[in-house]
Amino acid sequence: MKRMLIAGNWKMHKTLKEAEELASDIFNWVETNRPKSDVAVCPPFPFLHTISKIIAGTKIYLGAQNCYHEPEGAFTGEVSPPMLVSVGCKFVIIGHSERRTYFSENDQLINAKIQAALRFNLSPIFCIGETLQERQENRTYEIVERQIKIGLNNISIEQIRNIVIAYEPVWAIGTGVSANTEQIDEAHRFIRKLLINTFGPECNDTLILYGGSLNSKNAKEILSLPDVNGGLIGKASLDSKEFTKIIEYAEQSI
Ligand code: PGA
Repeated sequence: MKRMLIAGNWKMHKTLKEAEELASDIFNWVETNRPKSDVAVCPPFPFLHTISKIIAGTKIYLGAQNCYHEPEGAFTGEVSPPMLVSVGCKFVIIGHSERRTYFSENDQLINAKIQAALRFNLSPIFCIGETLQERQENRTYEIVERQIKIGLNNISIEQIRNIVIAYEPVWAIGTGVSANTEQIDEAHRFIRKLLINTFGPECNDTLILYGGSLNSKNAKEILSLPDVNGGLIGKASLDSKEFTKIIEYAEQSI
């Protein structure tokens, strides 16, 4: 059976009250519909604890959008993996292109964050993907391979089981234009093969999510691709109806 994870990346959106309402709407839908797919919500840091209580006891997992690579210390403004675990997180998004672009995160720092998250039993949702210029220069696979090789440097076969990969072509994020199914299919097959060659056959089970303008209109086609195990969803995760419709399409592809 194909495993699916539908994860909402709320980015820097919503007030506490709005975030509580969104989480409650998703909670109600999941309680009524009991999907086989796993569901995760990744709200901003200040809302994590409150939302962990709203979704407690359901199949909805909590994720953070970032973490620091040290467990504690004098690092003003940062949030550590043990802190995230203590408020109920199972996942943490690492290496999102917005972090790479606006906060200068490089592959080495991302590797340190992945190692730190795993040390404290958080599952990284590790984001990779090429820019438009890199795709136009036919460098997509070179870039994705470099991101995986350095990002997953010194990760063991046991640890790879706790890592989720999110292929997110940078040019498709927040633009309303998703990659087409051929591009997604080809990229996911490439990533799967690379993981299997690097870590072994257990990577047949690694969750590889697609992200980049995934919405209720294109989800059916994209989520039915054989090597797509769900989605990391930005804009469309801010509306409970859109988000839960995507979960419905994930259910059809299992
Ligand atoms: P988007 O964002 O769905 O708004 O394109 C996806 C992401 O950045 O994870």
